[in-house]
Amino acid sequence: MSSADTIPPSPMAGLRPRVAGLQPNLIAAVADLGREDPAVIKLWIGEGDLATPGFVADAADAAVRAGHTRYTYALGLPKLREALSAYHQRHWNVEVAPSRFTITTGGMNAIMQAIQAIVEPGEEVIIPGPAWPNLAETVRIAGAEPVTVPFRRAGDGSFSLDLGDIEAAITPRTRMIAINSPSNPTGWVMPSAQMEQLRDLVRAKGLWLISDEVYNHFCYGNAIAPSFLQVCTPDDRLIITNTFSKNWAMTGWRAGWMIFPEGLAPVFDNLSQYNTTSIPTFIQHACIEALEKGDGFIRQMVSRCAESRQIVCEGLAALPGITLRAPEGSFYVMFSVEGVTDSLAFAIELLKEAKVGLAPGAAFGPDGEGQLRLCFAISPELAREAVARLSRFFLARAAKKA
Ligand SMILES: Cc1ncc(COP(=O)(O)O)c(C=O)c1O
Repeated sequence: MSSADTIPPSPMAGLRPRVAGLQPNLIAAVADLGREDPAVIKLWIGEGDLATPGFVADAADAAVRAGHTRYTYALGLPKLREALSAYHQRHWNVEVAPSRFTITTGGMNAIMQAIQAIVEPGEEVIIPGPAWPNLAETVRIAGAEPVTVPFRRAGDGSFSLDLGDIEAAITPRTRMIAINSPSNPTGWVMPSAQMEQLRDLVRAKGLWLISDEVYNHFCYGNAIAPSFLQVCTPDDRLIITNTFSKNWAMTGWRAGWMIFPEGLAPVFDNLSQYNTTSIPTFIQHACIEALEKGDGFIRQMVSRCAESRQIVCEGLAALPGITLRAPEGSFYVMFSVEGVTDSLAFAIELLKEAKVGLAPGAAFGPDGEGQLRLCFAISPELAREAVARLSRFFLARAAKKA
């Protein structure tokens, strides 16, 4: 029989249903409509407008030229893991041994490896929502179920998490509780005392905790957001995921890290080997430079965000139909708009009419519907221009309704 006589079975039907059924990213659905338009102010995505600092780029360049272009340790360069240990000591006053780190392809791959290591098909992961969607989809890829526990939202627009709600969502299938503080998209920051309570809960129930701390420096009340490392011991069932993306404007470098409990290095060495076999060696050299010389850049980023946060939040709060509370942390503000039930359609309308690109709240799960998320990791000048455009749009909308 020749190949021309046979009909190949459908490739689509041959996929794992879990993977075929992954949800498309609704932020990209808006961004794809305006990506190429230079007139649009693009505040939909989770990255700032600053370039990676020159000293980091120079370090990568020098490392390539020095021949750091070969395979290296799957867990990452020992010197990088030592620099990370020193960074945690410096900022959170915690001792985390270099043997508890693995270097990952961004914070995303840290989450992927954590889920691969811990979550079995059919198990459940509790996630406060609205939430950055990638974690829930990663859980689905693993054949497990994300279980959303909604943040509580007060009349003034502020978000809070009730641990009673988390406890009520625990079932015999629950394996892990996921916390992202400071949170994308809500800007909520988990207080240290609540971290202790949650630690006690997961200890009592034998669960795992995954703490995504990628926005830890972006905190507008305290100097820095608390870390679960400060309230847990090296023996707790705790995974921390983090990234070079946000602090040092390195989103495209794809470099991050995970911290795992004491003694699990052989496991995560294997997992890294079979995921990526390490991230590029010369990029790891640049990451060491970011850690050792980049504290000033972080301070500059955070103070710029603080200024733009104030401009955006004061400007938007004054507009008719908008309810918002300035976020405590992260570099996003999530606000609800009176009368909006389809945030995707509304974000597209804003893109077309106001030339401002925002993320639709529905991108962060059903609890985000009716809201929009704006990234204010931008210059104060651009923040003012965005507010001016949004003001024109919302004032015209209110006048039409009147
Ligand atoms: C909450 C959260 N976690 C993790 C990440 C992952 O970032 P990256 O993969 O660029 O390191 C992001 C990126 O937007 C995020 O918002």
